[in-house]
Amino acid sequence: MSAVLDASNTPTSTLQVKPLEPTIGAEVSGVDLRQPLSIVQRDEIKSLLLKHRVLFFRDQPINHEQQVAFARQFGKIYAHPNTRRTESRFDPTTADSHRISATEARKVYKIQGSRWHTDTSWLVRPAWGAVLREVDIPPVGGDTVWANGHLVYESLSDEVKARIADVYVVHDFQSALKRVNLDYPIVAHPLVRVHPETGEKILWLNFSQNPTVVGWDRAESDALIAELERAYHRPEFHVRFKWSKHALAFWDNRAGLHYAVNNYGDYPRELERVLIEDFDALPHY
Ligand code: SIN
Repeated sequence: MSAVLDASNTPTSTLQVKPLEPTIGAEVSGVDLRQPLSIVQRDEIKSLLLKHRVLFFRDQPINHEQQVAFARQFGKIYAHPNTRRTESRFDPTTADSHRISATEARKVYKIQGSRWHTDTSWLVRPAWGAVLREVDIPPVGGDTVWANGHLVYESLSDEVKARIADVYVVHDFQSALKRVNLDYPIVAHPLVRVHPETGEKILWLNFSQNPTVVGWDRAESDALIAELERAYHRPEFHVRFKWSKHALAFWDNRAGLHYAVNNYGDYPRELERVLIEDFDALPHY
């Protein structure tokens, strides 16, 4: 286990941690995210993230720059191509974040419902982490749910585990990439990914991007994907976050999937997301 994983035992910690579910999710207080973190705080937050998979911070009135600065302490920022190239209100100073806008999803991408997904699964090296900040949330509804992808994997029968042991999936994000003239190959990822830091097996796929098993016929692939999606629906593996003014979520994108609950009609729900590139080592101070 790395030094980072052990950091939460440090006696100098100022953080208070309240687990929200036994299986996933914790609320963290005792830190002001407008300020740079100390190395101890950063390593403790990273350690907590590996343990709980998603951390929530409330009453953090941070702006765009502070959100990016917070995320940057955990790695290099990934500028999503659809943010950089398509948004009508494109602004080069905010290209390092992605507006998650219900209005844009409806109008530009014609997205209606929601599916369990992980971010940037179409990349060879998907973003490892994401920091999502409330901008404009409905008075009721518009929650986000995260699921523990390791427990979902463990819940599968031995027979299914054996069938998917060496399987790869592709995700189709081509139409969104073509929209911004990005010529990027379709890449395959193992359906069961080993988390590089915890060593856990994670059932890792993106149901919102038409996942297809490489080398299987379409019907067989569709049947498996439907079975795996049902496994992801089990509430025992979930934490459901109710957004509030100035709330922030920080999740490990390698550890499971998330789902934006679309139950708020035409409300122009908006959040701002900063993605962190996959990495080999934490950046130096
Ligand atoms: C995301 O999918 O990255 C954002 C989730 C949300 O809109 O709640």
